[in-house]
Amino acid sequence: MTLNLGVLASGRGTNLLAILAAAAGGEIPARVRVVISDRAGAPALELARSRGIPAFFLDPGPAGKAAFESRVVSRLEEHGVDLVCLAGFMRVVGRTLLDRYAGRILNIHPSLLPAFPGLDAQRQAWEYGVKVAGCTVHFVDRGVDAGPIILQRAVTVSEGDTPETLGARILEEEHRAYPEAIRLFAEKRLVLEGRRVKVGEGERGT
Ligand code: GAR
Repeated sequence: MTLNLGVLASGRGTNLLAILAAAAGGEIPARVRVVISDRAGAPALELARSRGIPAFFLDPGPAGKAAFESRVVSRLEEHGVDLVCLAGFMRVVGRTLLDRYAGRILNIHPSLLPAFPGLDAQRQAWEYGVKVAGCTVHFVDRGVDAGPIILQRAVTVSEGDTPETLGARILEEEHRAYPEAIRLFAEKRLVLEGRRVKVGEGERGT
């Protein structure tokens, strides 16, 4: 069965691109059905449109989070979305979206959570002086970059690194990690026990 993805992105969209490439290459049994951004000029929107994928800017406006998310949910439903992937979506998800897609929203973050949530995580890690950095794909809950961790990929920090070179290596790992997590979800292999995520046999074992 093909999983229908809705991608929410605020920026350049390299994770979106990685997901599109994995889907096109048959690495994940999924298709991106719609892309939504809270920023009018987000390159992710253009990227999606150039591939014939419906892409919408939804203005968060002054009406509040619930009103904005109701419009997001409508678009996701119109396109039959099963799984919502936040890919550089720089907004804390609220109850409207969480309730409608409970357990079906993933996020990627450029740090080994729970270290360095929030903005500019790669720079936070570099400034702190960690020796190992990385990225995390996790289920989304009401917290900021919180929620049960699906997988993490580590990157060794070298003394010659700058926040930019470190961030670039983390990004390469993000592009591997996100499709991998989507594949595990699609194969129904993710089993939640409290906030621990176990990777089971899922549909592979049947
Ligand atoms: C990525 O590094 C992603 O991990 C990060 O934004 C970037 C988006 O890049 N997300 C967060 O920091 C979420 N807290 P992209 O638009 O090229 O995918």
